[in-house]
Amino acid sequence: MNLLAAIREQFARALVLLGVEPGELSNYTSLVLTSQDAKFGDYQANCAMPLGKRLGKPPREVAAQLVAALELGAICERPEIAGPGFINLRVKDDWLASQVAGFLSDPERQGVPQTASPRTYVIDYSSPNVAKPMHVGHIRSTVIGDALCRILKFAGHQVISDNHLGDWGTQFGMILYGLKHFADAKALNNQTLEELTRLYKLVNSLVEYHDTRKEKLPALEARLAEAERTAARLSAVSPPSDAKEAKQAAKKVRQQEAAVVELRSELAELRAKVAAVEADATLGKLAAEHAGIGQQVLQETARLHSGDATNIELWRKYLPACLTEMEAMYARLGVRFDHTLGESYYQDRLRGVVKDLCEKKLARESDGAICVFLEGHDVPMIVQKQDGAFLYGTTDLATIQYRMNHWRPDAILYVVDHRQSLHFEQLFAVARLWGYGGVELQHIAFGTVLGDDGKPFKTRSGASVGLASLLDEAVERAYAIVSQNDDARPEAMLSEVERRQVAERIGIGAIKYADLAHNRTSDYVFSYDKMLAMTGNTAAYMQYSYARVKSIFTKVIADSGLPVADTRPDATILLGTPQERALALALVQFAEALDRVTTDYRPNHLTAYLFDLATHYSTFFEHCPVLRAETEALRASRLALCNLTARTLRQGLELLGIEVVERM
Ligand code: ARG
Repeated sequence: MNLLAAIREQFARALVLLGVEPGELSNYTSLVLTSQDAKFGDYQANCAMPLGKRLGKPPREVAAQLVAALELGAICERPEIAGPGFINLRVKDDWLASQVAGFLSDPERQGVPQTASPRTYVIDYSSPNVAKPMHVGHIRSTVIGDALCRILKFAGHQVISDNHLGDWGTQFGMILYGLKHFADAKALNNQTLEELTRLYKLVNSLVEYHDTRKEKLPALEARLAEAERTAARLSAVSPPSDAKEAKQAAKKVRQQEAAVVELRSELAELRAKVAAVEADATLGKLAAEHAGIGQQVLQETARLHSGDATNIELWRKYLPACLTEMEAMYARLGVRFDHTLGESYYQDRLRGVVKDLCEKKLARESDGAICVFLEGHDVPMIVQKQDGAFLYGTTDLATIQYRMNHWRPDAILYVVDHRQSLHFEQLFAVARLWGYGGVELQHIAFGTVLGDDGKPFKTRSGASVGLASLLDEAVERAYAIVSQNDDARPEAMLSEVERRQVAERIGIGAIKYADLAHNRTSDYVFSYDKMLAMTGNTAAYMQYSYARVKSIFTKVIADSGLPVADTRPDATILLGTPQERALALALVQFAEALDRVTTDYRPNHLTAYLFDLATHYSTFFEHCPVLRAETEALRASRLALCNLTARTLRQGLELLGIEVVERM
């Protein structure tokens, strides 16, 4: 158990003695927290105030009763009661020192306990649509999913990772259409990956062109007209006499006018896109010739699904090429999956799913489609369309059934863009009705990656940025930084090979860390400058901190002439200064940070922790001479703290999927 959990457990005991019902305990124990300011001790309990109110007693009296019931004597100094009834706890120095000393002989886990209740998790992540180039959005799923896998595994859970590829949807219909209409007939069976990507992009842009002209433009025009009418109506109203009301009315007018401006610029953008296609001699001609392309792409997809021999053959032939590119990306990111069971894997189960749902009276026909109506949802979940086609959700239901039958998980986590939340709400509701009420189904949603302009991240030309070029650019920039950072001393210079390797780790680490350090549910602005900064909460700073600690050991080795630094597992830890003590406490709190991640599946708890640790280390290093410590014992203790910091940083980064560098 970690320190915070141990303290909370004591509070729970004390709260029960004061008459709190077991069901209400967590309302109060959740108010026992790591303190934000050392002057309030290391941990702080704010539960005496609400409990006092509840029991009708003065909070300070309740606090005193809680304190009297706590059995924390071995770990903490006598708790202090402050202000209206805050309980401040300070960890005993000798307890801290002995804990930290214990970590020295536990290099694998640094005192992080294994969970007492291991579960089986299936983590569905990355899951790109093949044939479509991966983009920056997929990286979030991949990076967050990978970090969660690593952290849950480290905590002692069984983790099954599954890449639920979109290998059977419309995007393949686009390739099929492209192969049949735009590829050299003789070369039909011989397309390179570049050619497939070109075909996909071409068909996609034609589909989009027609869709924009026929659907999006008219819809946007209607919205604009409506907004303009509202704006005109609002500004025609004479202002109310009351000053406050007049101000509010004026504000409303301004907001509406701003909305009109926004819609006009959106419309101009769409019109420009359409015009660009028409102005392009080749593209314009193709667009005119392939007016029905949207429908036909759907037909190609439907033919694939119904087992059409040509389409199946082309699909079999070209799927591997699409996968190769993705695999190269995963290898570069250091991500691997236990399973890659794409949507196609479940195709022969879909009929059975719909049949079963109908037999159980969960689904029924409505307007020709087969739907599951859900309480509290305005729209039903469609599981089979009028034309017989199955949907994304039908596949997801079949997937749940398969996973439950084969792996019997306690939880299935879906690391997917927040724009799919409605899909998952419906999916989980249907799955529960269908009999899968016992498994924890969680949508691990994440926000959008934005560009400087606050809009979804795009290149200057407007295309969404391919993942490979994104990584390349980060690595190039890291290389420039590494080259520039060169120390003048020849022995400190990295060789070209080392520099390339370090740049790869720093560049990829920067992208991953930036993704993980943001609260996953919020959008974030993608900025190479920020993510590669050498100070602040960045991978580069963590990697630099790690390399800096390691350089001390390089020095120790050089001075002693021994092949390895002497880091004795039996060193006594001395915590004579506030900086040493703060660093020791931070080391002990690694387990708490990891626990937080496994509680709400947010890796940013770990990045925040690592930043905190690196900051404490930096303060320690400024104030406490290590190699020149006054006594041999102090030197051994401080070296041990350095060693543990390095190990924790390395372990922490590794759990985020980020590699350290020994020198940079
Ligand atoms: N292929 C989907 C996409 O790129 C994500 C799939 C997520 N997983 C799932 N079981 N639905 O949008």
